Amino acid sequence: MEKVKLTINGKTYETEQGKTVLEVARKNNISIPTLCYDKRLDPYGGCRICLVEVEGARQLVTSCITMVGEGMVVNTESEKVIRTRKGVLEYILSDHPLDCMTCEATGCCELQDLAYTMDIKGIDYRSGEKIGGVIPDRNELIYRETGKCIRCGRCVRICGEVQQDYAIEFGGRGFKMWVATPFGESLLDGTCVLCGQCVSTCPTAALFEKKAMGKGRSFQVKKVRSTCGYCSIGCQIDIHTNHNGIIKITSEVGAVPNNGNLCMKGRFAYDFINHPDRLDTPMIRVNGNLEKASWEDAYDYISKKLKDIKSKYGNDSISFISSGRCTNEENYLMQKFARAVVGTNNIDQSETECHAPTLTGLRNSLGFGTTTNSIEEISKSDVIFVIGANITEAHPIIGLEVKKAVRNGSTLIVADTRRIWLSKIAKTYLNLQPGTDAYLINALMNVIIKEKLYDEKFIEGKTEGFKELEKAVAKDEPKEAEGLCGIPEETIKDAARIFANAKRATILYGNGITQHSFGIDNVNSLVNLALLTGNIGKEGAGINPLLGQNNGQGAFSMGAVPGFYSDYQPVSDRAVRKKFEEIYKVSLPKNKGLQIREMFNNAYKGKVKAMYVMGADVLMSEPDTTRVKKALENLELLIVQDIFMSNTAQYADVILPAACFAEKDGTFTNIERRVQRVRKTVS
Ligand code: SF4
Ligand code: SF4
Ligand code: SF4
Ligand code: FES
Repeated sequence: MEKVKLTINGKTYETEQGKTVLEVARKNNISIPTLCYDKRLDPYGGCRICLVEVEGARQLVTSCITMVGEGMVVNTESEKVIRTRKGVLEYILSDHPLDCMTCEATGCCELQDLAYTMDIKGIDYRSGEKIGGVIPDRNELIYRETGKCIRCGRCVRICGEVQQDYAIEFGGRGFKMWVATPFGESLLDGTCVLCGQCVSTCPTAALFEKKAMGKGRSFQVKKVRSTCGYCSIGCQIDIHTNHNGIIKITSEVGAVPNNGNLCMKGRFAYDFINHPDRLDTPMIRVNGNLEKASWEDAYDYISKKLKDIKSKYGNDSISFISSGRCTNEENYLMQKFARAVVGTNNIDQSETECHAPTLTGLRNSLGFGTTTNSIEEISKSDVIFVIGANITEAHPIIGLEVKKAVRNGSTLIVADTRRIWLSKIAKTYLNLQPGTDAYLINALMNVIIKEKLYDEKFIEGKTEGFKELEKAVAKDEPKEAEGLCGIPEETIKDAARIFANAKRATILYGNGITQHSFGIDNVNSLVNLALLTGNIGKEGAGINPLLGQNNGQGAFSMGAVPGFYSDYQPVSDRAVRKKFEEIYKVSLPKNKGLQIREMFNNAYKGKVKAMYVMGADVLMSEPDTTRVKKALENLELLIVQDIFMSNTAQYADVILPAACFAEKDGTFTNIERRVQRVRKTVS
């Protein structure tokens, strides 16, 4: 990008063209006040507090929307600038309630901070008229008070530009302008998804977290950076705590990967941490009833029973289910316990049921069973193909990236059995019949091959088996697919052409295509589609499985799977095994262990006698509940380690209460394989 030189306050700076004066000033530690500015939003220029003087300009200009130019001379602190900004601020304050002593935002209010730093002592234009007040809204999360609104528009813009939910808009004019919902109804009645993004950007207490109110000022809380424990994006969060426990969760603009954005779960769903139903003591089943026990008694019971079962039935009669909900460290220890202490490779994890086809399919074809791109790259793709993933609900922050990309001109293709939110902004919506994903993907490839839209050079240089693929999909005519998938032939052809003609196309897929008996076929077809069009190995192009659980990726990487030690090192490889034997100082089992479903089949048949389940409610998540129930009943020992009395825990012989993500230190690995810190904030 072309460079320009400009002078700010007498000093010369070189910068890229296309930046605003505000951006360049801030980058160089020159302070300019702002109120309507938020890095996440388009430049707006509404509040005029960021005025600066530019030589040659007829009047002061707003630095947040003024682009730098070659030779520009800027003054950010002239007497005129300071005086005018003060006037602007006094005007903004003229109808403000000025009840800072009782206001929830005291200490974290941008308006209050500016009034202090700009030394506002009295306000000449104060009208005395009380405008606005608290808006009664029966939602339990977001407090709304119009009197504190400075009409900066940040909430309206974040809801429209970033969330694209358009749940709020300005109503009225002048001093009587307020942030309104359609027909003045509750946020619950419109398109609002209660993400709290509007709260996160509001510079005052006009929008505030209801749950945090009255629980302590911002300067009376401890703020700890951690990682959200819900989905696999791994949003960075700041947990605010004081003697009242967790009082709110926020995120900092600029934090990777979520840039200060959070969804409703990450921001508001933390009440479970102090829920009275949390397990808080070990329990042992005595005469059919679970009774409270000490940790020592629970450990004694477990070790005695495990030793008995091991000597009576052998090591492989014991199975371990680890968890995509727990930390990397916990997963590593669980697999080590299974292999080095008990001597079995019967270790699997909760995410396997959802994404085992991903691990196998991607590993077999690409060499590694995980995403090929970072989250940030999504917005650099000119075509995004979403299949089997309701992203705005299951991975909301990735949903924002997709929305951003479409807003910036990317083309979206959505294939889903349901009319999901993203189908609203998709250029092509492929409303397929359940279970017909592979037919659809093969039909797309059929069109691409027939119309010679594939990337010949890439295929020649980087792939093998093109002829076999050509033969395999030759029969998958779009006409055939129309009958099977229920999508018009022409729509399939259009989608194929859009995908193949993209410079950078990315595929985002979810459990909708993997949780099938033929999930691996679906994944293989998607990989073939990406390879056929040369969409691997370049920025903004690739294939990205959207794992569900927050640390499913980490659990795989830590070796909580039957065939691999940590870092996907195969247990069947003698040299690898030897290395681990030297580290663990024991001999390790040679054979691949049981997968989660095989564990239940074997327990059902009476071959698996003991199971240790950590952070997984298998009775809820496994298919064929009746059979799983019977399998659990057959066990001689079921150990469940969890935070609540889950369905599975009710069948346990021993229950160990676990710490949730906010109560322990460790790491999670997110969907893009970013290892992120989890910090203990409460006990
Ligand atoms: S909570 Fe989210 S969806 Fe609702 S108004 Fe605020 S930004 Fe919009
Ligand atoms: S409610 Fe807050 S963010 Fe929205 S316009 Fe008013 S002051 Fe700005
Ligand atoms: S998108 Fe996922 S990681 Fe981010 S806040 Fe929501 S649940 Fe947490
Ligand atoms: S911050 Fe520039 S006009 Fe509001």
